[in-house]
Parts: sequence; structure tokens; C-alpha cells
Amino acid sequence: MKTVRCDHTEAWGALRGHFEAHGRDLDLREAFARDPGRFEDFSLQAPEVFADLSKNLIDIATRHFLLDLARECGVEGLRDAMLAGEPINGTEGRAVLHTALRAPRGAGPFSDEVHGVLDAMLAYAERVRADADAAGGLTDVVNIGIGGSDLGPAMVVPALDAHAHRGLRLHFVSNVDGHDIAPVLRDLDPARTLFIIASKTFTTQETMANAAVARAWFVERGGRDIARHFVATTTNVQAAAAFGIGTTFGFWDWVGGRYSLWSAIGLPIAIAIGEANFRALLAGAHAMDRHFAEAPAQANLPLQLGLLDVWYRNFHRFPTRCVAPYHQGLRRLPAYLQQLEMESNGKRVDRDGQALPLATSPVVWGEPGTNGQHAFFQMLHQGTDVVPVEFILVRHPAHGHADLHAKLLANGLAQSQALMLGKSADAAAAERAPATSPGLDRAVLARHRSFPGNRPSTTLVLDALTPRSLGALIALYEHRVFTSGALWGINSFDQWGVELGKALCNQLLPRLASGDAGGLDASTAGLLQRLRR
Ligand code: F6P
Repeated sequence: MKTVRCDHTEAWGALRGHFEAHGRDLDLREAFARDPGRFEDFSLQAPEVFADLSKNLIDIATRHFLLDLARECGVEGLRDAMLAGEPINGTEGRAVLHTALRAPRGAGPFSDEVHGVLDAMLAYAERVRADADAAGGLTDVVNIGIGGSDLGPAMVVPALDAHAHRGLRLHFVSNVDGHDIAPVLRDLDPARTLFIIASKTFTTQETMANAAVARAWFVERGGRDIARHFVATTTNVQAAAAFGIGTTFGFWDWVGGRYSLWSAIGLPIAIAIGEANFRALLAGAHAMDRHFAEAPAQANLPLQLGLLDVWYRNFHRFPTRCVAPYHQGLRRLPAYLQQLEMESNGKRVDRDGQALPLATSPVVWGEPGTNGQHAFFQMLHQGTDVVPVEFILVRHPAHGHADLHAKLLANGLAQSQALMLGKSADAAAAERAPATSPGLDRAVLARHRSFPGNRPSTTLVLDALTPRSLGALIALYEHRVFTSGALWGINSFDQWGVELGKALCNQLLPRLASGDAGGLDASTAGLLQRLRR
């Protein structure tokens, strides 16, 4: 596996020259006027996901140089090494095989182990669903986990609400803040509740603390059968047993936390949507895996998106990217993507430990449309920073309110159009001034009412939000993050940056009780005393 960091390639120099000569000043409006085929040239169909890239600040030459970059960096070689189970997570000495979790039986590495746990987990999920159907059966399932043991299921369950069991409420508790678990427990009946303790390591402070609270609450409320009402999803079966949990679904160290919703960590999803739908979710992700592995570079959507991310981050120097799903079910997608992208690629040294001279992960953020339009879109249209936006539109809704859906889609289209077209001060001046600003100079008002335009966006279109299409969409994001990480030459699969805070927290916890501030910096000592007052 031979990989080269992006800034050590010839293509990087060519891209720099191209950026200085044409790329920086590319005007989307002129590009569309020049090339009537631009939409066709810059749109791609991947499994379940259509992507319009034509409103991005690229032209044919940009794409050409970016594809050269991918080739020179050896992205495809690293991809193949990942898929083959080579230990590409160097700092932890591990393979990266979340793709094996969604490979058909007999097809991927570790297939027997993967399908053994999957079958058992899905059979268990079906038993929980049957229990909920019986009189006096389960009504509530509480998943206790954080990070990758929370964000995936917490994103997918509402996204697939149309496919969910109607008699079961799913709850997600993650924060060590008691304000998270307390309101959930308040309304539960221990006899009708199942707790899933989800933790790859079964040592994470937040999860262990919340699990202990749940167990104490269960016993205090007369709950008797811990073995029936608590289940664990973890790689640490002994620790789960020591907690008193008999039913455990395992997974493996080659499943990264933020890539784990396809493993036993997906149990709450399987309980919500059932076996057939969970298998469809896996199949959608697998279809995207095949696309990433097999599609030629110019037609490979995750590859193209990862290249675009590097173009924007390192040449245009855009510091953030906004994700705007026009589907209320995808309201947790931005939070999910924050872990996927920023925990993976928020790194400042390359695989050899050399300090990187270039920017890596952008800040990823967003909210569902149309809510975001009435909050931060003002800044997207008229602020001083350019923020590439990713619109996610779904053709067919799962409800019968056709009029609402038409309005939703029109809003999504209008926003990407407005970002690109903008409105000149002359056009604004030609409009009738609003009655609210009668004394204001016309030209001044026109400047306030003008939009620069030429602001880039990508639009992803799904036919419908189904288990299969959602699986494909998530896998698309995973491989895109892989691609930009590979180009930057970083290890996208470790997360050492979360360790220092954990260690300091363990030191501060006893000090919070004792008040001992000895040796602390003045700020932390002052805050500690204030919090103890
Ligand atoms: O935040 C760090 C992290 O290790 C994540 O990568 C992981 O998803 C999360 O903590 C939870 O870890 P665990 O599943 O072991 O409780």
C-alpha cells in the first residue's frame, strides 16, 4: 500500500496553478451560461443517491486535476487495503472493517462471525418486538451509550420512523448530565422497559454512570429480572457480565465507534424497524461500498465528494460546511456527521507523525430545512464567509401531505438557486422599496438588499427515505470522509484527541468533592471553588 500525502504530489502544484489562474474566480453563473451541459457534466448517480455537483466552484479542469491528485496519492490502494482488512489504523494497530458488517453472508472478511452475531441480534430484536405486541409487554426501550454508541442509532431511528414498530418508544440517553436520563426515567414502568447498555469498551464514564443510575432506578422501583430487562452491546463481554448483564451482543476491535451502527450497536434500530428493514439498511450500505470499490474515479461519488472537500478546504480555505437535510427525519444527521467527520479527520499530524502544513477537517454543522432558513441562512446568503451547503432532498415523502412536501422541495431548490444566483445592487434598486424604510437612501438600501451569489452547494436527491437509501447515504459519507483523510495523509480511524480531557476529568472529580485546588492553574482553581460554593 503506497500512499503519498496530497501536498507532496505534482497534482498539488498543478491544482495550485489552476486555482490561481481560474479556480479562485470561477463564477457559477457564467459557467452555466457558457456550458449548457454543465448539469449533466457534473451530476452523478450512485446507488440510491443522485448528486448534483454542478453548483460547485469547479470546472472540467478542476475535476481533471483533482482526479490526478487521487491517483497520485494512492487513494484507491488505501481503499483496497481497508476493504481487505489490512491494519490501516496504524496508531491502534487495527484493521478498519465496518464494510464487512454489511457484506452479504459468505462475502466479506470474518463473515461467519459477523453473520453469527447479526442473526442472533436480529432474532433478539424480533423477540422484543413480539413481546411489545403481547398484552402487558414491553413499551419502552432505552439505549444508554455515547458517541458512536449513540449517534448512529439516535439518527437512524427517527429517520426511519415510517418503518418503526408503533407500540415501542425508543429513548436515547447519552449525556452524563442527569437532565438527560431523569426525564426519560420519570415516565417509565420498569416492568415494561428494556435497557440497552451500548459501549464498545464498556468503560466509558458517561455510559457506565448512566447504566448504574438505570439499574438502581430499576431495582428501587421493584424491577426484579435484570437479566431480562438489561442487554449489552459491547466488545467487552466480561465487563457486561460483571455489571449483571447476561445477554450480550458482541463486536470487534476493527469496528470503530463512529462506524458501529452496522454492528450490534444497531440493536435499537433493529428493534425499531425489524429484521427485514435492518437487513435492507445493510444492503444499501453494501451497494455504496461496491460503488466506492468499483466505480471508475470520474463516476465515483464518495471519491468526488472527498476531492471537493479538499479543494474547498485547502484552496478556497472554507472553514466549515453546512448540511441541510430537507427531511425532518434526518434532524440528527448533522450531529451524526460531526462525529463521523470531525473525529475522523480532525487531526494535525500525518500518518508518519509529521505536522501537517495544511488544514484538515472543516467544521460540519447544520439543521433541517426549512428551519435553518429562518435561523442561520441569513449568514449563508449575506455573511462574510462562504460556506458550501449540502442540500438533501427526498422526492417522495412518507406522509400524505402533498402540499407540504411540494413547499418543502421548492424551498430547498430555491435556497441553492439563491445562493448561486444572488441579486445585484442594481436589481435590488429596481425593486420597490419596502414601506418600512421610507427615509433611507435608495442606493444604501439596495446594498443591504443585494446578495453576492456565486456561493456553492451540492444537492443530494433520494427517491424516498427508506432503510436501503439511508444505508447508502450513510456509507456515502463514510467513504467521502475516508477519501479526504487519505488525501491529507492522516489516520482517520483513531481519536486520541478525546483522551486528555477524560484523564483531567478523572483528576478533577475527587477535587470537586474535597476542594483541593493545589497545583491547578488559577482559572480552573477559581472555577472549582465557585462551583463548590
Ligand atoms: O469520544 C470518544 C469515543 O471513543 C468515541 O470514538 C466512541 O464512539 C465513544 O467514545 C463511545 O465509546 P464506547 O462505545 O466505548 O462507550
